[in-house]
Formats: sequence, C-alpha cells, structure tokens
Amino acid sequence: MSSQAENLLRLIKSKENLSGKAKVLSFASGKGGVGKTGVSVSMAYVLANLFDKKVLLLDCDIGLGNVHILLGLEPNKNLKAVLEGAHIREVIQPVYNFDVVLGFSGIDSIDDLESADTANLFLQLEEVISEYDYVLIDNSAGLNRHTIGFSRVATTTYIITTPEPTALTDAYAFIKSLYKLYGYSSFKVVVNMCQTRSEGFETFERLQFSAKNFLGISLKLAGVLPRSRNVARSLRGKALVVKDYPSDPYSVEIRKIAQLETGEALPEEKEGFIARLLRILREGV
Ligand SMILES: Nc1ncnc2c1ncn2[C@@H]1O[C@H](COP(=O)(O)OP(=O)(O)OP(=O)(O)O)[C@@H](O)[C@H]1O
Ligand SMILES: [Mg+2]
Repeated sequence: MSSQAENLLRLIKSKENLSGKAKVLSFASGKGGVGKTGVSVSMAYVLANLFDKKVLLLDCDIGLGNVHILLGLEPNKNLKAVLEGAHIREVIQPVYNFDVVLGFSGIDSIDDLESADTANLFLQLEEVISEYDYVLIDNSAGLNRHTIGFSRVATTTYIITTPEPTALTDAYAFIKSLYKLYGYSSFKVVVNMCQTRSEGFETFERLQFSAKNFLGISLKLAGVLPRSRNVARSLRGKALVVKDYPSDPYSVEIRKIAQLETGEALPEEKEGFIARLLRILREGV
C-alpha cells in the first residue's frame, strides 16, 4: 500500500483531525454483478437527501466505471484525470445534492490497468475528506490491489452478495483476504436480489458461520434487498429507484441500511397529498 494510503488511513482513524467526521464506506464483492453500484449510488442519494449528510461518491471501478449511467451523466470529467495527477476538485461534480467523481470506461493498454496509480487519489482525498460526512467508494468486483486498498482504508466495508453459492463463496474469500492480510474486520453484509427475506437471513447466517468458525470474526448484517424490476430501470439510466420509487421494497430497505449506518432516526417524509398521489400513480402501486 502506498504511503499516501497509509496517511489517509491514519487521518481517517484520527478523531482529532476529523473531529468525528468523514466515514469512508467501501462497497465491495467477490463476484461481479451482485449490485454494488446500485447499492452505493442508492446509499449516496439517501444519505444526502434524507439524512442531510455531505456525501462524496467515488466510482473506483477502474476501467469499467458505470456510476454515470445510473446518474444519467456523461463521464467527461472522471477519475482517470486524478490517477494521472489532476486535482480531485477539478473532477468532482454535483448531482442530486451530493458530489461524485465519475469513473471511466476502457483502458488504452493493459499496462494502464496494472499501473493505475491510486497514490494521487489518496493524496487528494486527504485534502477534501474533512469536508464530507461520508465518502462512498464503488469498487470493481473481486480481489485486486485496488479493491483491497480502498477497503482497507474504509471505516466500514459493505460486502454485497446474492444468495447464489458462488457469490457467497467469493464474498467469504474477499473477507478472508482482508482479514488475513491486514487484520481488517469492519464488515457489514448486504444480501441482494433475494426472493424472500428468510433467504437473505439464511445466506447471511452461512457467511457468518464461516467467518466465526474459520476466521474468528463476527460480521454484521446491514440489510436484505429484494429483487426489483425498478432497479433494472435505474441501471438503464431511466430512473433512480430510491428517488423515483421510494415505496419500492428495495428503496425502503436501503433507507433502513442508511438509518443503521448513521444511527439516526429516519426523518418523517414530508410529502404533500398531490406529491403522494403522483408518486403512487407513477409507481403503479
Ligand atoms: N435488487 C435487484 N433487483 C433486480 N436487479 C438487480 C438488483 N440489484 C442489481 N440488479 C441488476 O444486476 C445487474 C448488476 O448490478 P450492479 O451493476 O449494481 O452490480 P455490480 O456489483 O456493481 O456489478 P460489477 O461487478 O460489474 O460492478 C444490473 O443489471 C442490475 O439491474
Ligand atoms: Mg459496479
């Protein structure tokens, strides 16, 4: 890990410097396509808009960034510039009451991926981190030096999995590696795409069993998210599920995850009659 990352880690852990602010949440998984980007974008929206937190979302899926698709933005200004030495303030852009650093798609050569240097990103983060309550990191899938590095500096790493055995096995491998390499154990688990809530709880219990018995660590369950056709719509850039379908069980559960994260009661939704009627008509429920 670069010395800049070490500095950032020290800064995050030092209550003095941060006066209790800026929690870094890393969204990671073993297997790909389990819902990390959906969850990190949803959490950014909910923390900023319902909990009034100052949020910075970073698309750190290097070379395969797609946060911009969910947010309906063009990734003209993106993380690549920061990795190449630009100041992070040049690429931070506002959207839905939070700040985002978009990712980039495609690499020019295989060496670019291997040598993508996150040192400048860590250095820049040190400068801006105290301006935020939360910095959220959307990672690529699996174990590599980037995902390990970003999760290692996180206050909490949210492991996203589905009930599928391969996703669960890979989630365990991710947890095991971070624990064995760095003694890191601040994990919360989100089980996504569940048919029933009990399927989600059983999936978590299987992961918890392995973590406790083979690693001696205890995991926390952050939430159980249902399959939702409105999430798929979000990923096509047509809507943002937590914004446009607040009654969708996926959105309800994301709000609970954010509530658990902040430790604050969910503010009463101040929705007028007409707004509520329009929403119900639009959602078709
Ligand atoms: N709860 C859900 N219900 C239905 N579909 C979902 C749900 N969560 C995610 N999906 C679908 O799964 C696909 C992958 O979602 P997403 O891009 O968020 O995963 P990811 O873990 O970020 O993937 P990658 O590893 O490629 O970065 C998308 O097509 C999305 O529509
Ligand atoms: Mg993703």
